[in-house]
Amino acid sequence: MSSEVRSKSRALQPGIVFSMLVCAGIAASGSARAAAQDGWYTTDQATSGHQLFNNYCAQCHRPDLTGAAGPALVGDAFLKQWSNKPLSALFSFEHSKMPATNPGSVPDDVMWNITAYILQKNGLPAGSVALGQPTEAGKVLPAK
Ligand code: HEC
Repeated sequence: MSSEVRSKSRALQPGIVFSMLVCAGIAASGSARAAAQDGWYTTDQATSGHQLFNNYCAQCHRPDLTGAAGPALVGDAFLKQWSNKPLSALFSFEHSKMPATNPGSVPDDVMWNITAYILQKNGLPAGSVALGQPTEAGKVLPAK
């Protein structure tokens, strides 16, 4: 290694130490770790989910998710209800109980896109992998 290269790598060290600290902070927040690695859904998926939500769910939960005939799907009460629970629990609830008038009528892939939109509205980050059966495994919704 030339001395020039060596001094460059030394110059990088504060940055490395900083990112280690950031990583340690994320690890300390527990379940947020998996999410931080790859996000929860893709932005495209949430955009599609927005439209689907309007079609299937908004009549009872309002287009802005603040609730009407059904409860709000955004905000503290919603997050408290689902925090520290597997994402699969939220999905099974939606899939088996919603829409309330015709439970189970929404296909899986459509419901995953809708779920991506709900997560987006609740502030969970987008990533490069779409939310779905293989990618949700083991994901736990963040503590509120
Ligand atoms: C006909 C009205 C209606 C429609 C349409 C509807 N919901 Fe609901 N939803 C409700 C009611 C009523 C509840 C509360 C009953 C319960 O929790 O069992 C509820 C509860 C929920 C909850 C739980 C909220 C909480 O605080 O725990 C979720 C999540 C949900 N709905 C998602 C959806 C999704 C996704 C769709 C669209 C696919 C949808 N709902 C369509 C009426 C509706």
